[in-house]
Amino acid sequence: MTRTARLALWAMMPATLLAMTAVLESGIRAQAKAPAKPAQKAGQKTAAEPAGPPISPEGKRCLGCHNQVTPGIVKDWLSSKHSAMGIDCASCHVEAGKGDRPDAKNHHGFKIAVIVTPKTCQGCHAAEATEFQASRHADAAKFIGSLDNVLGEAVGGGPVADAGCKQCHGSTVAMKDGKIDPATWPNTGIGRINPDGSKGACTSCHSRHAFSVAQARTPEACGKCHLGPDHPQKEVWEESKHGSRYHQALALGGKQGLNDPAGKWLPGKSYSAGPTCASCHMSATPNIPVTHDVGKRISWTLRPAISAKLPEWEAKRKDMQDVCTQCHSRSTVNGFYTQFDRVVDLYNSKFATPAKAIMDGLAASGKLTAQPFDHKIKWTYYELWHHEGRRARHGAAMAGPDYAWWHGMYEVAKTFYTEFIPEAREMDPALVEKVIKDMPEHNWFTKGMSKQDLEGVIKFYQGRYAQ
Ligand code: HEC
Ligand code: HEC
Ligand code: HEC
Ligand code: HEC
Ligand code: HEC
Ligand code: HEC
Ligand code: HEC
Ligand code: HEC
Repeated sequence: MTRTARLALWAMMPATLLAMTAVLESGIRAQAKAPAKPAQKAGQKTAAEPAGPPISPEGKRCLGCHNQVTPGIVKDWLSSKHSAMGIDCASCHVEAGKGDRPDAKNHHGFKIAVIVTPKTCQGCHAAEATEFQASRHADAAKFIGSLDNVLGEAVGGGPVADAGCKQCHGSTVAMKDGKIDPATWPNTGIGRINPDGSKGACTSCHSRHAFSVAQARTPEACGKCHLGPDHPQKEVWEESKHGSRYHQALALGGKQGLNDPAGKWLPGKSYSAGPTCASCHMSATPNIPVTHDVGKRISWTLRPAISAKLPEWEAKRKDMQDVCTQCHSRSTVNGFYTQFDRVVDLYNSKFATPAKAIMDGLAASGKLTAQPFDHKIKWTYYELWHHEGRRARHGAAMAGPDYAWWHGMYEVAKTFYTEFIPEAREMDPALVEKVIKDMPEHNWFTKGMSKQDLEGVIKFYQGRYAQ
């Protein structure tokens, strides 16, 4: 938020903030004290009354009960910038309960909504909320129609889609018998469809009620979702020099500047060791601002069966490279991108394109139905691109060699040569021959290795292990 916007906010506040009656004030102050605390000296603030602008009378009533009812939430809130700025329980939950939200409910004389959505945050953080709404993150719950959705809902089943897929992607929060349907909430999936029609949950990264930028800058903020067999970004990063240098810096007592003010956490200036997910994808450099659109700096999409460059990919790549060059030379960065592009091209041309041509051919000749997952080869193909192929691409994108190769392209190759091709040959040998026969990169398999290459292998093992 700009300084002007902040000042404008304060200019609007006094009406509510200053309208407190002396009676209410003293009554609530007594309630707000934690029971075990020693008596406060006159003028000294209570635990629930932090430094900074005063909290509202409504907020004090919330705290009066919630100090005892949910002390963990109050403690987190007390650690936040919000409490220091007088943004209290009512500023969010009473504000969110206004209008005709179906989930707003009466609560000890107030009308509140439990789910505070990006729409409420937007009132004070317009830029961040607008950028977020435009990102793929905000659309992450729109996966009906995907193969993954068939897996979740039909092959697996509804309850596990709720506790699995939707906890990462987001549910559609629904009402049942006048209350929030518990199958759809709690849920802080990144693209959750909220009862007020807005998309997403800021708490995916800014955990409630600390709402801290320092937390959001750590890799753990992304780790709930960006891990596992089909998108192991967390594991790739942990393995990379960037992950190891980050952990080394923390282990040796460095703070990595994580507490620097919002928008001022600059690679090369605030810290020099390993960048985190946020450093590369979201945080500022001296030349580019913080973005809440995580797609703004990526040039490829590494998700589909065959990778493609995104619209305006050159500009996006330039922004990412601006992050890298805060710490590295231009030629190091260009060299890295050359290696990355070559892996994506290799995966695309050697494995993904022929595998897709074979699947399309099998479908065209009626040997496969249109229904997902009703034949073994469909599972084989799915794992080839969706799990193994993504791992190889993600490993190369974020400098994790074990994922580029052993968890990545090694698995792609093994599945391709020992499962996919044999299964396809059983169904249509002529089709397979037609697709891979003239691809020199498969010669070692289709025509056999040369005598010379084979002798090289034999010599190596004799020389190294005498066997
Ligand atoms: C008279 C005491 C009291 C007051 C005043 C009060 N609360 Fe609560 N609140 C409770 C209790 C008790 C619960 C239930 C906790 C539980 O389920 O364990 C609760 C639950 C909640 C919940 C969760 C409800 C849910 O369905 O999950 C929210 C959000 C909440 N309060 C916010 C507020 C806000 C905001 C205010 C002030 C505007 C406020 N409360 C004022 C006692 C109070
Ligand atoms: C900056 C806005 C904001 C403020 C200030 C705030 N909340 Fe919340 N609160 C949220 C959000 C966001 C959620 C998460 C709802 C979701 O997305 O599912 C939440 C959830 C809750 C819940 C239900 C979740 C749970 O973990 O049980 C309770 C209870 C609650 N808040 C109480 C409070 C109390 C008490 C205060 C004051 C100390 C407070 N809130 C201040 C935004 C806020
Ligand atoms: C009534 C206004 C208001 C609402 C509503 C509000 N905030 Fe804030 N928020 C503030 C103010 C004021 C600050 C302090 C800004 C500063 O220091 O520059 C702040 C700071 C922040 C920060 C930065 C914290 C840091 O460590 O520097 C985050 C993150 C944040 N808010 C997230 C949220 C989210 C998420 C919501 C909705 C769930 C929300 N806010 C709702 C007013 C609000
Ligand atoms: C652990 C969190 C998590 C779970 C569980 C999860 N996903 Fe995902 N999903 C992600 C992430 C993160 C991505 C983005 C990966 C990337 O960009 O490389 C993704 C990508 C996708 C995509 C690709 C979107 C696109 O635009 O190409 C679809 C479709 C999808 N998931 C659906 C599902 C379904 C359906 C389920 C359950 C059967 C599921 N996911 C389970 C986190 C998860
Ligand atoms: C994908 C994770 C993620 C999500 C989701 C997210 N944020 Fe952030 N947010 C961050 C990171 C990381 C920073 C810290 C940027 C930096 O280094 O200064 C940040 C910073 C902020 C700040 C401080 C001001 C600034 O621009 O630096 C505010 C305010 C904020 N976020 C509000 C929100 C709101 C409102 C939402 C929901 C609409 C939201 N955030 C969703 C990760 C996230
Ligand atoms: C609650 C789960 C969740 C969290 C937390 C989360 N993400 Fe994501 N992210 C997703 C899902 C799901 C997708 C895929 C959305 C789609 O394509 O439908 C995604 C997509 C992305 C993309 C690809 C965007 C694009 O335009 O192609 C990037 C980059 C990304 N996330 C980075 C981050 C970073 C960095 C963080 C932490 C600061 C983070 N995410 C936190 C779930 C999450
Ligand atoms: C050193 C910078 C850097 C760090 C640190 C980093 N990334 Fe990336 N990330 C990249 C680059 C570079 C790409 C590929 C960009 C392109 O396509 O041009 C990428 C791609 C991605 C994608 C897109 C994948 C797809 O399927 O299209 C996601 C999602 C992602 N990163 C998430 C994360 C998460 C989560 C973390 C932390 C665990 C992280 N990144 C750490 C630089 C980084
Ligand atoms: C905050 C500074 C910082 C940023 C930003 C950064 N790096 Fe690094 N990078 C490092 C450090 C520190 C090392 C480890 C050097 C060492 O330990 O020898 C490293 C190592 C590397 C290596 C060598 C890997 C290896 O295994 O030897 C490559 C390649 C690399 N980074 C590429 C990138 C790219 C590409 C980007 C941007 C997408 C980037 N870096 C962003 C600090 C950074």
